[in-house]
Amino acid sequence: MTWHKTISAKALKGAGGSSVKVGDEVVYIASVNDKLYAINGVCSHAKCILGIIEPEKLKVKCLCHHAEFNLTDGKMVTPPYVAPDILMDKLPLKVYSVKEENGFIEVDV
Ligand code: FES
Repeated sequence: MTWHKTISAKALKGAGGSSVKVGDEVVYIASVNDKLYAINGVCSHAKCILGIIEPEKLKVKCLCHHAEFNLTDGKMVTPPYVAPDILMDKLPLKVYSVKEENGFIEVDV
């Protein structure tokens, strides 16, 4: 794994959360109450790019079918509305280490 420089910490703080390309991966990074989070940015249901952050619940919602993922552990916490019986525990997203370095967000991918 290697640390990769992504967007500025100021830009992330303004957005709350954002999907960014990191090497060959897409990573969803978020800043909530001065804490950083990074999970895989490709929805495990049907591969849409995440998403809209719900900072008060530490979740990100996929806009395709509204599945929701916990930012702290990548677990799917709400199923897609088109597949309410999906096995959510089989569809977690990978979690990455993330840090701020010299004003930029870095992710270990
Ligand atoms: S692709 Fe994300 S909920 Fe369906």
